Amino acid sequence: MCGIVGYIGERKAFPILLEGLKRLEYRGYDSSGISLLNGELKTFKKKGKVSELEKFEEAVNSHATIGIGHTRWATHGKPDDINAHPHHSGNNRLALVHNGIIENYGTLKEYLISEGHEFRSETDTEVLVHLIEQIQESKNLDLESAVRYALQKVVGAFAIAVIDREHPNIIVGARKSSPLVVGIGDNEFFIASDATPIIKYTNQIIYLDDDEVVTISRDDNPQIRSLDNKLVDYHIEQVDLKLEEIEKGGYDHFMLKEIYQQDESIYEAMRGRINAGEGWVKVGGMQDHYNRIENAERFIIVACGTSWHAGLIAEYLFEELARIPVEVEYASEFRYRNPIIGPKDVVIALSQSGETADTLSALELAKEKGALIYGIVNNVGSSIARITDCGSYIHAGPEIGVASTKAFTSQLVVLTLMALDLAHKRGTISERNFQALISEFELIPQKVKKVLQQAAHIKSIASEIKSASNALYLGRGYNFPIALEGALKLKEISYIHAEGYPAAEMKHGPIALIDMYMPVIVIATNKNAYEKIFSNVQEVKARKGIVIAIVSEGDTEIKKIADFTIEIPNTDDVFSPLLSAIPLQLLAYYIAVMRGCNVDQPRNLAKSVTVE
Ligand code: F6R
Repeated sequence: MCGIVGYIGERKAFPILLEGLKRLEYRGYDSSGISLLNGELKTFKKKGKVSELEKFEEAVNSHATIGIGHTRWATHGKPDDINAHPHHSGNNRLALVHNGIIENYGTLKEYLISEGHEFRSETDTEVLVHLIEQIQESKNLDLESAVRYALQKVVGAFAIAVIDREHPNIIVGARKSSPLVVGIGDNEFFIASDATPIIKYTNQIIYLDDDEVVTISRDDNPQIRSLDNKLVDYHIEQVDLKLEEIEKGGYDHFMLKEIYQQDESIYEAMRGRINAGEGWVKVGGMQDHYNRIENAERFIIVACGTSWHAGLIAEYLFEELARIPVEVEYASEFRYRNPIIGPKDVVIALSQSGETADTLSALELAKEKGALIYGIVNNVGSSIARITDCGSYIHAGPEIGVASTKAFTSQLVVLTLMALDLAHKRGTISERNFQALISEFELIPQKVKKVLQQAAHIKSIASEIKSASNALYLGRGYNFPIALEGALKLKEISYIHAEGYPAAEMKHGPIALIDMYMPVIVIATNKNAYEKIFSNVQEVKARKGIVIAIVSEGDTEIKKIADFTIEIPNTDDVFSPLLSAIPLQLLAYYIAVMRGCNVDQPRNLAKSVTVE
């Protein structure tokens, strides 16, 4: 978490850094700060949103053309003005911004205190800038060398940018396990956690690798060295990201825009990978390792949060269609429990950001043990995308709202395509069924459009239940993970406590919670278990719960007993999560807006969880 940005060039740095931080706010938003160098080193920082920085008149009026900025998601030290970045060295010569965690900061701090350093904040980051200062002064080194030396003593994850009052023409950056990119403009250079603050000025981007240190200066090309001081050849990539993709485009919130984009994003995830007319499905990412994937003893899916829910649906897909055993793991649990993994396993990582620290570490572990690593990722060039052996991008486009929506459905598309491709090649599905399924699959973007047309109706249901304190989500089969996902969406953006359950599990405990105040959202579109779900709805109604049922068009039975129904187009159970997820996203969105919550930046959360 945390977003960092730096600028050096001919323009005023402050507005560029401020705007850049606003674009990075999805990575953390509990405090922010900017340091500017204009003869003197001046730092302006404040608890709260990035917009707080606009109140520093001196910064707004500054003519400084070099600076660094940071938007924070607190790890060490509470969110306040003092713990906000940038942090200064003791001699106030250096300012540093950091994304990540310095794990051995305690030992380093003790050593620095013994050397006479005094600390102002509770952060691990301040230790790093003092360490650089200590090395710079004791060894009489230039900034870049001092940064390299210091980082060799650091255990943990970092993306940093540092400026030095005595070297006003350079910014030094470095990364390990946290993303950092460099933008190359016209007589100006940028450094940032991702390309979004840069794209307005240039699409020429260098993605830094782990253990690399970059120096950007006003009058030279960027120089990249490894931590052990070897010059690194780098590659400048042209990033295909348009400014309008990272703006709200007339919607009140990014989340709403992203929900509404799903007919297109689902289509984009399918494009070139399926052709019902010609009767094929082809997931290019699997091609080079097809043998190993097809003959895998097991798929292990690792992910966190919403991506983990997509993984749960994949378990149903791969097992039912391709008959491959699947385990779905929380990445954070997987890596710490000495899992049994071998060369016959395929480990599939699901991640929108491609930067989630737990998922990344789980993959490193699986790789060490010889498994084939497959990544299903949205962010092109992200850390996960780069360490996998093979994989598929989901092509959802930038997802900026903190609550994941379109990335989730696009992940499902890729997973469904993989399951169909494997099922067809392994002969675990009849040709007739395969053709029927892929024909139906191509209709999904149109059907998504129809679901979106129900937004006004869903909004009216939201107004009926917006004051609830708790909510229960129930689903079976493919829609059980959708119940989990619906509950997660509601709790993370509206702060209503919500639980998702397999519908049949309700009677083993949660039924005790049901009373006339409890909204129970039932996903009841399943063809396979309709009668069973119907009974579950009756059980809820018998206890006076408020039933909001997602049903298939033409449903008559559940409609009769539910308090509210949302109809979605008929489809095969295999594809039903792609449709049923959407009303739940909209329901959570409208409830959160009605409760006055900041849906794009819910409290305590960040979009990209780059700390373990
Ligand atoms: C919830 C949400 C999170 C993410 C999780 C994993 O709406 O967005 O639960 O799904 O932090 O993130 P990625 O997919 O980037 O690895």
